[in-house]
Amino acid sequence: MKVVVSGAAGFVGYHLAVALADMPDVELFCVDSHIRGEDDEAYHRLQVRANVRAFNMDLNDRAALDQLPADPDYIFHLAALNGTQNFYERPFDVVRCCTLPTIFLLDRYRDCKSLKRFVYASSSEAYASTVSRFNWPVPTDESVPLGIDDVTNVRWSYGGSKMHGEIAVVAAAQQFKLPFSIIRYHNVYGPRMGDKHVMPDFLMRARKGEFVLYGHKDTRTFLYIEDAVRATIDVSRLDSCKDEIVNIGGGREIEMGELGKIMMDLGGFEGQIDLQPSPKGSVSRRAPDLAKFKRLTGFEERWTLEDGLKQTMAFYLA
Ligand SMILES: NC(=O)c1ccc[n+]([C@@H]2O[C@H](COP(=O)([O-])OP(=O)(O)OC[C@H]3O[C@@H](n4cnc5c(N)ncnc54)[C@H](O)[C@@H]3O)[C@@H](O)[C@H]2O)c1
Repeated sequence: MKVVVSGAAGFVGYHLAVALADMPDVELFCVDSHIRGEDDEAYHRLQVRANVRAFNMDLNDRAALDQLPADPDYIFHLAALNGTQNFYERPFDVVRCCTLPTIFLLDRYRDCKSLKRFVYASSSEAYASTVSRFNWPVPTDESVPLGIDDVTNVRWSYGGSKMHGEIAVVAAAQQFKLPFSIIRYHNVYGPRMGDKHVMPDFLMRARKGEFVLYGHKDTRTFLYIEDAVRATIDVSRLDSCKDEIVNIGGGREIEMGELGKIMMDLGGFEGQIDLQPSPKGSVSRRAPDLAKFKRLTGFEERWTLEDGLKQTMAFYLA
């Protein structure tokens, strides 16, 4: 079984690739340009495995994609330029890396007969504006209209591109009969998640005795990486998820302030948390409605937030 993972040096892509490489029948093709995901020791260990081939490839270059196998069974397209700081500081790069690779991969495989599923990693950011502007219900299900609040706010370079990606996948699927699944991830966390998310950000400062938390009244859900990988593989394999859009995320909605307290407790930190307002454009409440995902897959989370945080904190505090 030939499987292509784009964004394999990134956070979710790396853990997904390791899980796939562990499967005896899988020949794995890992693709990353390292614009974000590191070419580190862990990624090296993955690349040297007998059933893995890694491509240091920029998917913005259509011609380069011809090096990839012509007859994959599964494509997991996770490559994107993520990270809130990037949305503000290099929004054009964000748009480029979150749109062209999707178009080019769909174009490369438009006539592929072996393909059982094109899995596209979308994001809750694709509908974040609808929730804040129109008071759309939270937890939010997959029928929510996608949209962006303000085209002049470059924060939406990412959300708008993910919306574009969903449209591109559905359009290619209809025109070329490509089987697809679109996954809207909601805050996946765990070791090797980079340093730009709320948890590593808090922990890196906490190591220096500074306890700073932004948007303490904002709520989010969190899904541990091992659960997210299992959910992603389930979605790709199940007929029930073919040509479907599904939310993947955690079931427990908590305030950032509470998350901070849990990290303080687990880390044995003593001190007062410096509560700062939310960053500009941040969404005050976000949680996925998981009813459809659970109905289609029967999925249950195995990791509690506390257990997942213990693993994550061990990684970041080591
Ligand atoms: N982690 C989450 O909680 C979350 C939430 C919502 C959506 N997502 C989506 O899931 C996917 C994986 O997220 P992640 O957290 O692992 O992100 P990540 O930034 O860690 O990984 C993305 C990878 O894509 C690579 N990449 C970017 N542009 C590329 C290009 N042009 N060619 C080749 N490689 C390129 C980057 O180098 C990086 O390694 C992304 O599409 C992201 O938008 C993730």
